[in-house]
Amino acid sequence: MNLQPVGILGTGKYVPERVLTNQELEQMVETNDEWIVSRTGIRERRLAAPDQATSDLAYEASVSALRAAGISAEELDLIIVATITPDMFFPSTACILQDKLGASRAAAFDLSAACSGFIYGLATASSMIASGMYRHVLVVGAECLSRITDFTDRNTCILFGDGAGAVVLGPVAEGRGFRAFELGADGAGGDLLKVCGGGSRVPATEQSIGERQHFIQMAGSEVFKFAVRIMGNAAEEALRKAGMGKEDIDLLVPHQANIRIIQSALNRLQLPEDKCMINLDKYGNVSAGSIPIALAEAVESGRIKEGDTIVMVGFGGGLTWGASVLTW
Ligand code: COA
Repeated sequence: MNLQPVGILGTGKYVPERVLTNQELEQMVETNDEWIVSRTGIRERRLAAPDQATSDLAYEASVSALRAAGISAEELDLIIVATITPDMFFPSTACILQDKLGASRAAAFDLSAACSGFIYGLATASSMIASGMYRHVLVVGAECLSRITDFTDRNTCILFGDGAGAVVLGPVAEGRGFRAFELGADGAGGDLLKVCGGGSRVPATEQSIGERQHFIQMAGSEVFKFAVRIMGNAAEEALRKAGMGKEDIDLLVPHQANIRIIQSALNRLQLPEDKCMINLDKYGNVSAGSIPIALAEAVESGRIKEGDTIVMVGFGGGLTWGASVLTW
């Protein structure tokens, strides 16, 4: 069967206005700017306004992506929102977004793969377009992580931020578009990074709230070791499937969790830092939003040109990981 080549027709991003600096965090928990910058590379992150939820951030990023793609909302066949901070349990954030956009023809669903969610979304959407099932799919990574961050826990509250990135996927010319995906999961590592309160196992009760079970819990150094191993593995495996090697990479767009994790991936792939998109100093870790925000900024700043080989790679709770190889 001849599959239709699928690529990115337009990108968009949105980050809330409110900046939370390391200096402000110094007033909230026992930490300091020097520690945060040297251990993570993060200098500031964005916080959604009290009246903003994930779908509001997703909407702004989506409008930009649709404009860049020259596609109207009515032309969308499907909307996928990758998020771990949906507006509510249901309806899905994708359905809320579909209504805000007026994308009346589009099917819509949320996808839960934590920080790997955007890559999982790209793989899902591109398969559906390649098979001929759909033509235009909006894939969004959007998070309000500040709503599930424990601002009394210095191990986690320094890391996360809010924001959204979006892409419109559609048919592209032969020789362009996605070349390969590598997705993976290791559910045995689920306890390393989780929010256990509020689901069917631990419903919201006064006790669960008192025990702060509705906030992110993380075994930082274990996640760090996993991330260092999996970033290189996933990128190399995706390149292998694409029939390419690390020397073919023009730009790496990694998940923006920690500068030391990104640097170890660069070492493993023998890539100089100027072949890598890094913006975690400004936004911290935005989970499913990190990669599409970084991609949109790479496009905005002219760092991607036609024919470039772009590798996106991420990891996160689940545990999950994902990588893609794309000819722009
Ligand atoms: N400020 C100051 N000190 C802090 C601190 C903070 N914000 N957070 C932790 N520390 C302390 C710890 O309490 C520990 O002190 P101790 O030795 O007295 O117990 C010390 O710093 C070192 O902690 P450690 O956890 O070994 O630091 P680290 O070098 O592993 O860095 C992370 C911590 C969280 C930055 C790092 O492990 C990390 O980035 N992990 C991956 C997290 C991640 O990416 N999560 C999302 C995945 S999508």
